Amino acid sequence: MTNMPVCRISGQPLHAFLDLGMMPVANAFLTKAQLAQPEFKFPLRVGFCETSLMVQLIEMVDPAQLFHGNYAYFSSISRVMEQHFAQLADAVAAELLYDKRLPVVEIGSNDGILLAKLAAHAPAVGIEPSGNVAAAARARGLDVISEFFEPGLAARLRAERGAAQLVVGANVLCHIPDLNALARSLDVLLDANGIFIFEDPYLLEIITQLAYDQIYDEHYFYFSVLSLSRLFAAHGLRIFRVEALPVHGGSMRVYGCRAGAQRATEPCVQTQLALERQHGLHLLQTYVDFAERVRQSRAALFTMLYDLKQSGRRIAGYAASSKGTVVLNYCGIGPQLLDYICDNTPGKQGLYAPGTHIPVLPIEHFAADRPDFAFVLAWNHMREIMAKEQAFTQAGGRFITHIPSAAIV
Ligand code: SAH
Ligand code: TMP
Repeated sequence: MTNMPVCRISGQPLHAFLDLGMMPVANAFLTKAQLAQPEFKFPLRVGFCETSLMVQLIEMVDPAQLFHGNYAYFSSISRVMEQHFAQLADAVAAELLYDKRLPVVEIGSNDGILLAKLAAHAPAVGIEPSGNVAAAARARGLDVISEFFEPGLAARLRAERGAAQLVVGANVLCHIPDLNALARSLDVLLDANGIFIFEDPYLLEIITQLAYDQIYDEHYFYFSVLSLSRLFAAHGLRIFRVEALPVHGGSMRVYGCRAGAQRATEPCVQTQLALERQHGLHLLQTYVDFAERVRQSRAALFTMLYDLKQSGRRIAGYAASSKGTVVLNYCGIGPQLLDYICDNTPGKQGLYAPGTHIPVLPIEHFAADRPDFAFVLAWNHMREIMAKEQAFTQAGGRFITHIPSAAIV
């Protein structure tokens, strides 16, 4: 009997190409009492399907375990993301919304960072299963349904509120294990001229920047325009525009509609598809090569931190991100190398990092403590962090990054 994993979209064989080892849930920060108990871990392995062209996790942590009452990430923590979503809402309102009465549905609306801006232009409803962030959005006066988005809910929304002129989701598509069901939900909910917009971390950026730390439990899929256009086409939907975005370390926004809608597919779609083929995103070998570069990057980062520590320098982690959990666990970087991780999220402070058990302390501690080096575990927010931590660098402190390779910046 073989135990070949299969693609969650095509049902065809999935070729495993990268093994990041036994990994805790990236956002499962621990209390002191929990340190003594066994920690849940799962094999973090990634595969590629030659039929759907989709890169995906092989073993999945149940969404009900990840997205429930207490989701660690509050979108509004980042000023950059506030601006990013304000621009999206303005652009959508100016160009794409066409009926003030038809609903706009946001999937994964979190604390309302985008929903609040959309609500100024049309009746807007958020779908957000994580109760704590949904409550934060409701406290801002927003309309939020605290459920997972699936075809049954899509049918209810359509019956109760009418067909949607826009379904939008940022950094949520990659969290949805059944993408065929997602596409069916779009088909149920969208108005004849309705559009959908999704943005997620972009596979081409992950591959070219060697950003393997985008790979963790919550991200079941790593999208290319190649794989998404195949998925949507199989459900009578079509991507008509794509836009590369600088956020979250490099994202891709896709705009779609019904295949037969009166809307031309813009030239940028073909251009991006050609670029992805040039980079070999349709070939297994590309991913096998990527995995080899990841293993080399682990060795280089560990050696650099180890040598600094051996020479008597003090190193702190900066930002207790989900990406950080992956890097620290995969590379074997624990309290022997990092004194602590500082982070501005109150809900993480006073806890311990998953797997490595490095203490997470408030940002104020970092300012007072002034270590020699700060290893940035949220490299996607590097510019924002360096701008606000000028006192650290002016006093001689230096930042370390591992993207695209281990370096002192
Ligand atoms: N859109 C926000 C939040 C991204 S985090 C932003 O870009 O900043 C992803 C959010 O999607 C989480 O709040 C999570 O609870 C939610 N989510 C996960 N699975 C979902 C699903 N199936 N349907 C709707 N929301 C989901
Ligand atoms: P995430 O990538 O998993 O969302 O985590 C990013 C973490 O970075 C989050 O816990 C907040 C933290 N952070 C800071 O501590 N300071 C900052 O300036 C920024 C932008 C983020």
